Amino acid sequence: MQYRTAIHRLYSKASHITTPIFYPNAKPHIGHLYSSLLCDVHHRWQLLKENQSFFTTGTDEHGLKIQLASESNGFDQPKKFVDKLYMDFVHLDKIFDINYTRFIRTTDPDHIENVKELWQLCLKNGFIYKGEHKGWYSISDETFYPESKVVKDPSHDGKYLNTESNNEVIYQSETNYFFRLSLFRERLISHIKQHPHFIFPVTKREQILQELETTENLLDLSISRPSTRLKWGISTPNDPSQKVYVWFDALCNYLSSIGGISSILNNTAEVVSKHYNAGSNVEMQLTIPHPKEVWQTTIHVIGKDIAKFHTIYWPSFLLAAGLPLPKQVVIHGHWLCNGVKMSKSLGNVVDPVDMASYYGSDIVRWFLLENSKLEEDGDFQEQRLSETRELLVSKWGNLVNRCCGSKFDVERAVTKFSNKGHLQLQEVFQNEPEISQQIKSHIKLLNETKDVFEEKITLFQYSQLLKHVWGIINDANTLVQNGKPWEREVDQQDAIIFLSMETSRILTILCQPIMPALSQSLLDRIDVLEERRTITFIELGSDEAYGKYSNKRGREVPLKRIPYRLSE
Ligand code: MSP
Repeated sequence: MQYRTAIHRLYSKASHITTPIFYPNAKPHIGHLYSSLLCDVHHRWQLLKENQSFFTTGTDEHGLKIQLASESNGFDQPKKFVDKLYMDFVHLDKIFDINYTRFIRTTDPDHIENVKELWQLCLKNGFIYKGEHKGWYSISDETFYPESKVVKDPSHDGKYLNTESNNEVIYQSETNYFFRLSLFRERLISHIKQHPHFIFPVTKREQILQELETTENLLDLSISRPSTRLKWGISTPNDPSQKVYVWFDALCNYLSSIGGISSILNNTAEVVSKHYNAGSNVEMQLTIPHPKEVWQTTIHVIGKDIAKFHTIYWPSFLLAAGLPLPKQVVIHGHWLCNGVKMSKSLGNVVDPVDMASYYGSDIVRWFLLENSKLEEDGDFQEQRLSETRELLVSKWGNLVNRCCGSKFDVERAVTKFSNKGHLQLQEVFQNEPEISQQIKSHIKLLNETKDVFEEKITLFQYSQLLKHVWGIINDANTLVQNGKPWEREVDQQDAIIFLSMETSRILTILCQPIMPALSQSLLDRIDVLEERRTITFIELGSDEAYGKYSNKRGREVPLKRIPYRLSE
């Protein structure tokens, strides 16, 4: 513990990224994994750069939706139900190497205290009042819809739907506590205008801003339900007859998971957090220095369906409580399967665990990142996942396998051209301007790569990033193809082998956040020492100590071909 604390103090920059917390009412699917993956890559990239980073995720365990799911699954208590189902999310994270710093559950005692604290602050500051509420509620979306968004369901007698999510709504009239959301429209607009990156991507920012500007008034929000109706929730402070609205509860997780409101308000230098490790409920001490500053670096990654809660409700709750706002809300599209929305009734929900068990978790990670853009919906096709694996085997795997063949000597090439030796690479081909030029432009590509990673990861533009990576891999393969090292004298052969191995070494170090497990096998294959897998070693020629046994026969292949499992 003391060691950890000391290490954390050394870091100057700290940041925080969050996934939404997931409803544990069914097994996780590929869409849930996607939110976690976007965060994980970002978090791992910060760690690779030796910055301190916090990454929090978890499960949203209260509310009517969970209460009803628990009942219909035959559980007498919702807590027993969520205790079972939340494990599926922890398991998913384990399979996919999702490297969170805290997995928070809204049933965790420190979170419950924190929700009450947020409530009390909003109440004390005059933003909560009691009133009569009449309106249309969707259990599935855990939200009320205005009359203007409610229509009769044409296929079911007597049922009503909302036009936003098309889920069923029921009319309710009851006593609730209200939040004075109507007071926040102007402040939200000015915050969004003054912080152009608060909502990202820009298309979403414009859409939300336009909605806020054209709405005459935001309606006050019901933030509690009678305990007679909603049994499974946190009681409102000082009034057990009401339970806290599940979104008020859930959004608060973002504060609880980095130490809670008081530590943020006091900005105490250190707070203690918990770390649920692979479902074993092991509590680990985690030091968060300057939680207020960390909170202001927070990036919320969310799906497009929950933008309203994160860009309107959440900032308003925070402003009401006198708390600073997070840095950014990043909104992504949804995953379809073969062009169709995934749903239980259609039976087309993609199970990420099944995909990982056949293709490998890192192949699924790569595929999801390569085939998605924030602004668009992604389309999952197993055929393309299979092709992604095949390409990685035939292009990246093959580049390594070729150079590690028994005809070549990686160790000799590395010794010759590492450190300042790489400055001689072009000279070796001074009588061959074409190859010499190819080497020059390849080196330029490699030198630009870290900046490309930095930019694309910051902007969540993973498909563009991986396009760049493929460009370099293809370029290195072309160099080997055209350079024919097997026909060359020793220095020229070593120059080509060196540059190809450097390409793989540097790219693999940089791709660790994208493929955490496979990158280790690739680096193991070329004998890169563990302590040299960091950002300090991504310059060309910066590691003179790898490749020692790489050309020995019988070494393990990092990425093997697998049989095709789809029917033609
Ligand atoms: N519990 C709330 C979030 C509370 S955050 C304070 C919730 N949970 S959810 O389980 O329904 O959804 C979690 C996330 O998964 C959301 O960001 C949602 O957009 C995302 N996805 C659900 N289906 C998805 C796809 N098909 N594709 C991509 N993401 C999807 O909402």
